[in-house]
Amino acid sequence: EELKIFAPATVANLSCGFDVLGCCLDSVGDEMLIKKNDLKEVRITRITGQDLPMEADKNVASVAVKALLEQIKSDQGFDIEIDKKIKPGSGIGSSAASSAGAVFAVNKLLGEPFNNKDLISFAMQGELLASGNAHADNVAPALLGGFSLVRSYCPLEVLSLPVPEELRVVILHPLIEIKTKDSRSIIKQNVSLKSAINQWGNLGALVSALYTEDYDLLGRSLHDDIVEPVRSILIPYFKELDELVTKNGALGFGISGSGPSVFALCRGDENANKVKNVISEFYSDKEIDFELHLSSIN
Ligand code: HSE
Repeated sequence: EELKIFAPATVANLSCGFDVLGCCLDSVGDEMLIKKNDLKEVRITRITGQDLPMEADKNVASVAVKALLEQIKSDQGFDIEIDKKIKPGSGIGSSAASSAGAVFAVNKLLGEPFNNKDLISFAMQGELLASGNAHADNVAPALLGGFSLVRSYCPLEVLSLPVPEELRVVILHPLIEIKTKDSRSIIKQNVSLKSAINQWGNLGALVSALYTEDYDLLGRSLHDDIVEPVRSILIPYFKELDELVTKNGALGFGISGSGPSVFALCRGDENANKVKNVISEFYSDKEIDFELHLSSIN
């Protein structure tokens, strides 16, 4: 018994939703093949595309699967093969895709003892291993699709939000690696009341914009007063890119997860392609190699 799956990339935070908001990209992701084995052991049997640990206690996919199996006291073994297309340290949920993909497939192969929402907490164990913090804003949308909002971590409560039909995401991935652990360590631990007011105003408005398909409001809400001002220092040409995509009609722009990838939300394919092209032109004479993706949210 085996299952082949697509494990999607995700954009976490979306500016004003640090650690609580994320969305799922439907055309960027990894492929995984999960098979039952008779060895009562969870093994990573093959990784192609990237250099990642094969030891079961060091790979996020096997760690997440073990958390699931422990919960139901199952000694079923699994072999996990990962064709890793999302680069680690890219900011589009590389570890989340592996953790979420693995628990999703294992749950199916076991006859679905859990629903997709239940799987979030197991996948979060992979995130804990990868970044030292069990955040859910990548694994939740990877498992549920669309937009996810973490209302509460303790107890865990995750909501799915609607996706306006014409919404597109352009992702620029400058090929430098920023570890989530490192880009979390530079964030200030205290927030001023003034910044907090701006942030929850924007986050509330963003949620409203998703329900009402108000693209302009969505664009106005994509600001981050708290984390982005600190993290953007790590991202090459952040300010210039922001100005460039805004001038070319993008709804909003920000850091994808913990970076270095940045995202632009756009309305419709035409605008998304235009934004993608101007970014490509801007970056092509810079010293840093890059990848560009255009995706729907699904
Ligand atoms: N919310 C997390 C962070 C996402 O920004 O650190 C990491 O991809």
